[in-house]
Formats: sequence, C-alpha cells, structure tokens
Amino acid sequence: NSIEEVVNVAEFEAIAKRKLPKMAYDFYASGAEDQWTLRHNKIAFSRIRLRPRVLVDVSKVDMSTSVLGFKVPMPIMVAPTALHKLAHPEGELATARAASSVGTIMVLSFSSSYNLEEVAGASSGLKFFQLYVYNDRKIAESLVVRAENAGFKAIVLTGDTPRLGRREADIKNRFTLPPNVTLKNLEGLMSVELDESKGSGLEAYASNTMDRSLSWKDIGWLKSITQLPILVKGVLTGEDASLAINAGASGIIVSNHGARQLDGVLPTIVALEEVVNAVQGRIPVYLDGGVRRGTDIFKAFALGAQAVLVGRPVIYGLASDGQAGVEKVLKLLSDELELVMSLCGCCSVDDIKPSHIDRASDFFS
Ligand code: FNR
Repeated sequence: NSIEEVVNVAEFEAIAKRKLPKMAYDFYASGAEDQWTLRHNKIAFSRIRLRPRVLVDVSKVDMSTSVLGFKVPMPIMVAPTALHKLAHPEGELATARAASSVGTIMVLSFSSSYNLEEVAGASSGLKFFQLYVYNDRKIAESLVVRAENAGFKAIVLTGDTPRLGRREADIKNRFTLPPNVTLKNLEGLMSVELDESKGSGLEAYASNTMDRSLSWKDIGWLKSITQLPILVKGVLTGEDASLAINAGASGIIVSNHGARQLDGVLPTIVALEEVVNAVQGRIPVYLDGGVRRGTDIFKAFALGAQAVLVGRPVIYGLASDGQAGVEKVLKLLSDELELVMSLCGCCSVDDIKPSHIDRASDFFS
C-alpha cells in the first residue's frame, strides 16, 4: 500500500520492514532476549479498557499541554532513538523538521547520525538532548555545553544503560554501521569503531565506552555543568522516582528503553502508577514504550502521565517517507487522541481521569 493509504502506525511498520535492509529493520524493531517486555509493552495497554462518559459537550477538544513550561499542541514527543540515517538519508534532519512542523518536541539521541548542531540548524522546533555518559567524562561535558549553546532546552539523562542489553537479532546480524553512517556527535572527540567480529558491533562498542560507574550522585555533576533542566529517563520504580527527585531532576520518563535493555521488566504502562504515586505531583512524569494508538496515550494520561514519547513509530514513518512520513505518524497519533478524548467526554488532557479506565483483569472475572 502507498503512503497516502496508510491509516495507522502498524502499517508504517509494515512498509518500513519491506523497505529497509534486514540489519537496519531488526536493529530498530527488536528488543532484548526473549522480548517478553517488548510484547507486553503493547499487551499491557490492550488490557486496560475505557470508561467513556457520554453526552459531554466535546465541540472543542484541546490536546495542548506544557512540557517543562513549553507549550505544545499535542502531548506526544519524539523519543531519542539512535542512527536515523539507517532509516533515511536525511535522518535526524528530517525527523527534526517533522517534529517542528507539527509543533512538538524532539529529543535528539546522543547516538545520532547527524550532529546536534546540524539538527539544531534543520528546524526551529523545540529540542531536548539525550545524554549517555562515557568513561571519558569530558565527552559528556563537551556535548552538554554544545547542546546548551545550540539551543536545546533540556538534558535527558538515560539511566538504564550502564551496559547495552542483549539484543539477539543484532548479535546474529553482526550489527555494524555502513560507511556513510557514523555517531556524528563524537566526531573530533573520539574515534568510533564497531567490531562486529563476535556479534553486535554496537554491544562491543558500548561495553568499552559506557561509564558503568554512573550513579545518582552524578546528577549533581551534571547540574554543575549546565543550567538546563534534567529529565531522568528509564525509571521504573517508586524508589528510583524518589531518588530522582532528591537528586534534583526536573522530570521523570518512565521507560524500559523500548524493551531493549532488561527483558522481564514491567511494561511501562504498568510501572507508571507506582512512579506517579511516589512522585505525588512534585515533578512531571512522562512515559514511553509501546505507544501505538491514541487510546494508549489516553490510558497513560488516565494513569498520571503528563505526556508520552514515541520511538519506533517515528522511525517507521521516517523509513517509509522521510519527513512527510514522520509528520503523518505524529498527526495520526494526535488525530486518534483527539477522537478518543471526544468519545470519552474529555475536552482537555486535564479532564482525563483514572475513572476513565478499567483495569479489571478479565471480562466478567
Ligand atoms: C532507542 N531508545 C534510545 N533511548 C535513549 O535514551 N537513547 C538512544 O540512543 C536510544 N536509541 C534507541 C534506538 C532504537 C532503534 C529504539 C527502538 C529505541 C529508546 C527510546 O528512547 C524509547 O525509550 C523507546 O523507543 C520507546 O519505546 P517505543 O515507542 O519504541 O515502543
């Protein structure tokens, strides 16, 4: 089917699968080990039913919200995902233009294939920068300063990756980078070489570079090098939510890294409630993982999320049709959200309440 005929995110995935080389598609689509969490990120959403309220005046439905004080027309952000050039030659430049044209926030991955200055220059839209911390801390320091200078508005510190999860598809495919694709932010800072002789080149690379000593106290170090607010990404427990607040985080992203790190962790929509309860409204809580429908976004709001991020859907849109494909994915999701809000009797995202969902485990149980 052609792009014009695509009616949902799943169809974008099918097109991306057809178009991309196997190594690239598998890299994007797969999760860690048995991929239990990968499947359950989606299944868990499907187990939540909706409790619509009818005969509410929904002649005006407003999906806008604010993220760290920035007003956005839809509560859907672009999650940081690595290496967009494997999906499309314009890579992160196209993604940034698409996010900007629909008015939402892009979180640029540390592991991007255009550098942060190039991406900043591609669009005037709001952007956050996702940070990994390597053994050589000067690299993080330099990138954080560069991001701040280039106009990025927040640092998203990914906390769930002291080592790379075991992604068996990448191991089998001996994942490596084609010559035209690099970890562009690192140019001039270090030489990047992937050794795929024993499996996933990315895993081998990460095991040599990632600073496994990174810990909560390092939020203090980050705050000493930047004025930007810090979001901690990868929190799945109430305990860690409290530590994030104590460390001075400005927000939390409940995430299991798209099920690519530790297999067997809770689906994010299940973990969300515990985090929201621990946070008690002190800082905003966002969620990513398995969001593929407007109803998923609605359910996340009902459980206390203040925005969601989407990872793979953006990549599938990019692979299918570049900037236009990403725009269409974001538009589809926001149109779907507007519809479910209308049909549930919610005129604004603040109207979405726990009473709009039902988590009883099975029908008639
Ligand atoms: C990711 N994710 C990720 N996270 C991060 O902090 N830095 C990164 O570089 C990447 N890279 C990356 C690559 C690919 C191909 C995927 C699929 C994911 C995780 C990402 O930010 C997000 O948590 C998940 O993608 C959300 O799940 P969905 O929307 O893909 O189901």
